[in-house]
Amino acid sequence: MRKKVLLFALSLLLTFTGVAAENYVLSSNNTSLVISANKDGNANYKYFGPRIEKSEIGGIDGARIGTNQATYPTFGLHSLSEKAIVTQMADGNLSLDLTVTDIQQTTDDNGQLLVITFKDKVYPFVMKQYFKVYNGTDVFSTWVDLENQDKKAISLLRYYSACVPLQRGNNYSSHLEGYWANEGGLYEQPVNNGQIVLSNKEQTCIGRGVSSSIMVTFDGVPQESTGRVFGASLRWTGNHKLILNARDNALTLLAGINDDAATYTLESKDVFTTPELIMAYSTEGKGGVSRAFHRWALKYGLMHGDKLRDILLNSWEGVYMNVNQPVMDQMMADISALGGELFVMDDGWFGDKYPRDTDKSSLGDWVVNKKKLPEGIEGLVASAKKHGVKFGIWIEPEMSNTKSELFENHPEWILQHKNRPLTQGRGGTQVVLDLTNPKVQDYVFSITDNLLTKHPEIAYIKWDNNAEIMNYNSLYLPANRQQELNVRYQMGIQKVLKRIRDKYKDVVIQLCAGGGGRVSYGFLPYFDEFWTSDNTDAMQRLFIQWGDTHFFPAKAMASHVSASPNHQTHRTLPLKFRFDVAMTGRLGMELQPKDMKPEEKEFSKRSIAAYKEIRPIVQEGDLYRLVSPYERKPITALMYANADKSKIVVFAYRMEYLHSQKIEPLLLTGVDENKKYLIKDLTPWEADKPNNLNGKTVSGKILKYMGLGLGQTLNRPESSMAIELIAQ
Ligand code: GLA
Repeated sequence: MRKKVLLFALSLLLTFTGVAAENYVLSSNNTSLVISANKDGNANYKYFGPRIEKSEIGGIDGARIGTNQATYPTFGLHSLSEKAIVTQMADGNLSLDLTVTDIQQTTDDNGQLLVITFKDKVYPFVMKQYFKVYNGTDVFSTWVDLENQDKKAISLLRYYSACVPLQRGNNYSSHLEGYWANEGGLYEQPVNNGQIVLSNKEQTCIGRGVSSSIMVTFDGVPQESTGRVFGASLRWTGNHKLILNARDNALTLLAGINDDAATYTLESKDVFTTPELIMAYSTEGKGGVSRAFHRWALKYGLMHGDKLRDILLNSWEGVYMNVNQPVMDQMMADISALGGELFVMDDGWFGDKYPRDTDKSSLGDWVVNKKKLPEGIEGLVASAKKHGVKFGIWIEPEMSNTKSELFENHPEWILQHKNRPLTQGRGGTQVVLDLTNPKVQDYVFSITDNLLTKHPEIAYIKWDNNAEIMNYNSLYLPANRQQELNVRYQMGIQKVLKRIRDKYKDVVIQLCAGGGGRVSYGFLPYFDEFWTSDNTDAMQRLFIQWGDTHFFPAKAMASHVSASPNHQTHRTLPLKFRFDVAMTGRLGMELQPKDMKPEEKEFSKRSIAAYKEIRPIVQEGDLYRLVSPYERKPITALMYANADKSKIVVFAYRMEYLHSQKIEPLLLTGVDENKKYLIKDLTPWEADKPNNLNGKTVSGKILKYMGLGLGQTLNRPESSMAIELIAQ
């Protein structure tokens, strides 16, 4: 009894002396995050929403909307519901009981930080939790450092990055899911009580399967420009798990490295840093969250986010593996004549003992095939110089084929079971290198290093990856560490990429994994762009790219005009339609220009010139998605606006055509209603026959609230439109 009275007195004292929970606020222009924490006590999420001032914080409790959920719920005590972490101490104990020992508000290179240090009440286990707001953006983030101060190892059974409370209401979730040649599919669903789990096990191809990005609405069915929306994306390169955990009065998002069969042993004095979860909140619908992520990506999340991307020709769908000096030279001459700026030689250029003529051999043997390219890379670089374009090259450095010199010399570098037959992938012979092994890391680094040291003229690398871990065992890792393979592979590849970027700051590198198999903010600090999909069919790309734009900016989204009929879907589409789609991302071409008719070349030349004009608006402007292809309406449309909305580009496509079909006016939500715009057709099929909107001047008010009538402009099956609006 006496003890109870004493405790009560002590808690009163704490309240009055101010040691009780204090509110810590991180704010961007439009959003605030409030964490309440006290030394020797707990830390709780209090608020994440529209920007509030310090004086308003009291009202959070007053309005009874504070979440008051622990910032990092631990397993073992009061263990109801999902937890962010499960540890096992050397004595077998599975519980963690963390108390705050320090709270610091500080800054780093690019943002303001709140750092809360916790310690277990019994075990020598320390955690630092970080909350960050990135300067000049509306993006926040959080992650933790887990430190074992014990003499014995501790097992991390689950080690998520975050457990964020969200407001329970009429919630819907949006995420991406897909497969090879059908990536980026957008899936939206009501959040019923229970769990929505985005558990990704695609290992080295995590852009397939479910995405590491999610949006959650608070006002019902997701809308583009209205309603409150939360968005999050995990900056991790490997398997991830996102759990949206919904109950009557509570909703939380847990996100982190996938904990299935991934126990990680934290040796004495080791620190494990979890990947960062980035987060944004908007009252302007999904579009508001997308724009926040895009702006953040250009400043912080994407390599060379501040540089415009070149227009390129890639050789793959044009000649596949039939590369040789004269053909490469011809393709360079053609892309140069069309106004392109870069040529990329894809697969097929390497292999000495085993020439790369099919996908059955040669990965790992990164030496020029002298039969195909007698003048070597020097000859290609000379051609590029002659035609006034930059030169780029394809590699797949994390891989080997069983038919290769690399495999013959270093079979131990391959991921494999000692006592099972080797499962082989693409071509029946592809295998994956063991990136947990530092020697293999050195080797993979040396592939790029050799190419770029010998040929500093190489301006672009397409870094491909066409297999997942098929043989889940490393000859390098000890028996008790095999369950760390997935995580250590990712640490290995990140180390290599960091080494490359430390040494080669300027080279442009494309992220490819059989198309969009690796699209994730975990990779993008090292890469300039991603190959959105091996599916280059413009009609299907509208769906794939629509999904990707929810989280990723147009500048990162490589989008190529390819031949018709399309090689993946066999669909025939007009060249104009194909250009109008590719121009919404980083424009490129991927066909044999030699096979184009003169009028097609003439059109391509004009369209490339038009793209150059609007490139800064598409690549660096704000995206407004207007009509979704997923709505299955007759048209789909999107627009980009520059910062002051004085220059706008609108793209629209006829998806379905029936005679006299009703087309709703297209409301241009992203224009400035106080401006007047002159409309210019960017891609008329015949130069002197622009569409019927060309040359008209229309006020922003009309464009925004009455819209554009497109019945006569998109009046044919597969017709499309790319127009620029220039403020007068
Ligand atoms: C993957 C890529 C393609 C192409 C081929 C080459 O499939 O996604 O773009 O580079 O490999 O083999």
